[in-house]
Amino acid sequence: MFFTSDNASGAAPEILAAVTRANEGFARSYGADDIMARVTTQLRDTFEAPEAAVYLVATGTVANSLALAIHTQPWAAVFAHTEAHIATDECGAPEFYTNGAKLIGVDGAHGKMTPAGLAAALDRIGESGVHGVQRGMVSITNVTEAGTVYTPAEIAALTAVAKTKGLPCHLDGARFANALVATNATAAEMTWKSGIDVVSFGGTKNGCMGVEAVVIFNPAKAWEFELRRKRGGHLFSKHRFLSAQIEAYLQDGLWLRLARHANAMGARLAEGLASIDHVSQRHPVQANLMFPEWATGCHAKLQAAGAAYYDMPAPAGREGARLVTSWSTSAADVDQFLAALRA
Ligand SMILES: Cc1ncc(COP(=O)(O)O)c(C=O)c1O
Repeated sequence: MFFTSDNASGAAPEILAAVTRANEGFARSYGADDIMARVTTQLRDTFEAPEAAVYLVATGTVANSLALAIHTQPWAAVFAHTEAHIATDECGAPEFYTNGAKLIGVDGAHGKMTPAGLAAALDRIGESGVHGVQRGMVSITNVTEAGTVYTPAEIAALTAVAKTKGLPCHLDGARFANALVATNATAAEMTWKSGIDVVSFGGTKNGCMGVEAVVIFNPAKAWEFELRRKRGGHLFSKHRFLSAQIEAYLQDGLWLRLARHANAMGARLAEGLASIDHVSQRHPVQANLMFPEWATGCHAKLQAAGAAYYDMPAPAGREGARLVTSWSTSAADVDQFLAALRA
């Protein structure tokens, strides 16, 4: 009954087997391995972007930070939802890697920016000449930090606002696969066809050991990415182990199968919670994370039964939680949690 995060799950057997296979013999280091050559093709095919530059790193934080750094200037502003991971959970790494770009929060219900909200935020910045930060870029998270999902049309509506000011757009796809299967969109529809310039493509939360890809649709940015990644200390020498994970992840649709399972477990949990009269959800449940609230006293009961999850603030008389399902959550885990809550 482990619902703290999808990164509390292990690695899928296919990923571990690929890492073990990659351990055979010698391989070129620093991304020159044969597996990476195949991964480049796989990612370009997945995104229907034959010119895209693709790179691997080991954390989502650095994927996001480098993706932002190659598209913005130190004196510019990055616009993102107020609750965005880049703004709340990365210890200032985006500011650090961009050499000081300013993050500007855009409010919006259920973790989502709206075109009007973004337009208003863009209008407030960049009019004070040399005295103020300039508009830099926009970052969108999908699946959002609230567990909701943008459709490609919603992403396109946001990027259209950004493009009116000539700004590039980043997608934080730490849970990209979960967003895709939730919307039945293709990777291309969710990204460049909707105006996204660079994607952090998550692997770790969805069954990899520790790897994220950065897919850059403008290959002119590639060399700068390589320099920044090395300078930032994130170019792995035994890179083949990153490559092997992504190769196996993309092979035969494993990434989508794992995400479908995580989302199905999310739906099962949400359905069960909806059938308990004192339980409400703070946000619509659209993928694999949710924020239920229930009557005071349930935390003690659930935790005594062995459930692990994060507590969230809630109004008086209520308790709040964040629950995340993953590729390795079982139906039995979900049912046991619901039984403990009903008991
Ligand atoms: C939306 C989002 N972006 C990025 C990340 C990546 O973070 P990390 O640096 O821990 O891999 C996470 C992980 O929690 C996340 O939820």
